[in-house]
Amino acid sequence: MTLRTAVIGMGPIGNRHAKLYREDELAELVGVCDIIHERADAAAARLGVPAYYDAEVMLSDLTPDVVSVATAGYENGSDHYQPTMQALEARCHVLGEKPISNDIRQAEKMVAKGVELDLCYGINLNHRFTPAARLAKSLLDEGKLGDLLFVNMAMWIMNPAESSPYFHIKSLHPHTVDVMRYFCGDIEAAHCFATKAPGRQIWSTAQFSFRFRNGVVGSLTGSYDIERGHPMERCEVAGTGGRFVLDDMWRELTLYPAGDLQKTVYTDPLFGGFHNFENTFRERIHCFLRQVTDGVAPEEIDGSAAEGLAAQNALAAAIESLETERVIYL
Ligand SMILES: NC(=O)c1ccc[n+]([C@@H]2O[C@H](COP(=O)([O-])OP(=O)(O)OC[C@H]3O[C@@H](n4cnc5c(N)ncnc54)[C@H](O)[C@@H]3O)[C@@H](O)[C@H]2O)c1
Repeated sequence: MTLRTAVIGMGPIGNRHAKLYREDELAELVGVCDIIHERADAAAARLGVPAYYDAEVMLSDLTPDVVSVATAGYENGSDHYQPTMQALEARCHVLGEKPISNDIRQAEKMVAKGVELDLCYGINLNHRFTPAARLAKSLLDEGKLGDLLFVNMAMWIMNPAESSPYFHIKSLHPHTVDVMRYFCGDIEAAHCFATKAPGRQIWSTAQFSFRFRNGVVGSLTGSYDIERGHPMERCEVAGTGGRFVLDDMWRELTLYPAGDLQKTVYTDPLFGGFHNFENTFRERIHCFLRQVTDGVAPEEIDGSAAEGLAAQNALAAAIESLETERVIYL
């Protein structure tokens, strides 16, 4: 049985969700919604589904099983709260865009609502939903890296928007912090320095230090100041038994065993033709649909809203550190 899916927020990202629901064998797209009529109408005409301009009307008319919330707003996160709460109240499983919210208190209420109603509520933390990242995780779980010691993460793209001093930190780094947490677990302390690129008003480039609860230490470099083209992301994790480097999260994984001059490089076609970044969305959406279809318990789903909130909490600590020049304990 396919899941009846709908999308709220028909910007570029909502349109991508809708297209991928249409293409996924586990789903049937039944409706799209945007408060901007032209956006809803254009998507509806292209996708052959009804357009709605009010999420509550769509939810009560169509009673979808699964809803994507791809709204944005201030710091790319202020508009998620209302439609997410509406979709959960309508007993839909929800896949929300990142950041879960730009406001921690709202994010806490959203997570609590999903728990209260026992619904799967996931966030599109798509950067870890790749065959390469999964392989890296399995190497780690098999003990190939020995006892974990450190993680170095970096991501850089161009985003000239100047909406808030913390836009880059709150909007880009849910992804990188989630990847770090995926490999290394919960974060217990954070520190951050940041800088403003020439001509910019916001903290557009930043350097973070984290300590994880298991003792692992980590660094993260991030920037909204560098045009894409070359790889845009890199994650290195090391332990007493060796080290791996993940390029672009999907492109290539290299394992460097400690004390051994041979390295192993994993790349396509091993990853089944995972050719580009868009496939991270395809894979993440399919995983959510698969877990809902299989009846996975809401607290067990991959990339849950609780994990999205945990990433945002670490970023809030980093922002407090930036403001106070102190280490902040979570
Ligand atoms: N996962 C990723 O890799 C990735 C990449 C880029 C952006 N994003 C995230 O995707 C989200 C959307 O990005 P975008 O660029 O498409 O944004 P956008 O601003 O272009 O589109 C958002 C749309 O939501 C609509 N909207 C707002 N409130 C609504 C409501 N209550 N009901 C119905 N429609 C409503 C707006 O009218 C707008 O058309 C953001 O949160 C962003 O952070 C994720």
